[in-house]
Amino acid sequence: MIAGLWMDRANTAELLDDPALPSEVVARAYRDLARVHRWLGNTRAILRRVRGAKSVLDIGCGQGALLREIRGKLGIDVIGFDLRPAPAAAQVRIVTGDAALDPLPRADVAIAVCFVHHLSEEELIRLIKNVSRSCPRFIILDLVRHWLPLWLFRIFVGPVVSRINREDGITSIRRAFTVQELRKVVETAVEETGARVTQTVAPLLIRQIIEICW
Ligand SMILES: C[S@@+](CC[C@H](N)C(=O)[O-])C[C@H]1O[C@@H](n2cnc3c(N)ncnc32)[C@H](O)[C@@H]1O
Repeated sequence: MIAGLWMDRANTAELLDDPALPSEVVARAYRDLARVHRWLGNTRAILRRVRGAKSVLDIGCGQGALLREIRGKLGIDVIGFDLRPAPAAAQVRIVTGDAALDPLPRADVAIAVCFVHHLSEEELIRLIKNVSRSCPRFIILDLVRHWLPLWLFRIFVGPVVSRINREDGITSIRRAFTVQELRKVVETAVEETGARVTQTVAPLLIRQIIEICW
């Protein structure tokens, strides 16, 4: 590690987490996020991994944009779970609750996209144990805390998204786990369960994916 380049994990709330935000602002931010996931290849990475499953649970699903895409392209049954209540017009079923604490719907595979950086290490361990009670597979896709994706985001993504997504994108990278940290927390969570864990990191550190199979 190069001295001066290390970033401690930030503990700053994101603008989108504010429950008082007007609904049209929230809807626009989630739409923007879905667009960024398509550009960066996150959507494709998830579609490839869930192909063949009969049902998918998206934890921290926002307003369900990725689930609509999964259902549309792969014909899989989908359900979402999020702390923020779903809008009345949501086109997929979204259950409201805290994913680290509340019982989760059953599915063949659970996914969590750009969600786990919202959690402390202890909460992430609780989340993984909670998921293991209702899904045999869990795919976590998240950011990597590192200067390279931070600067790439500032230069290429920030200028073309809304102010909320621009500021939250930077906060999210600063809140994310490093590759080694995420692996270590996951290994702790699945200790003595016999689970298989695989981790992949995309070029330029634009995402990391951990897959757990129990
Ligand atoms: C950055 S957004 C990502 C939304 C979506 N996965 C995407 O990538 O477009 C994180 C989501 O996690 C949700 N969230 C945060 N803490 C949560 C918790 N403890 N349980 C369930 N959802 C939570 C937030 O409400 C928000 O919708």
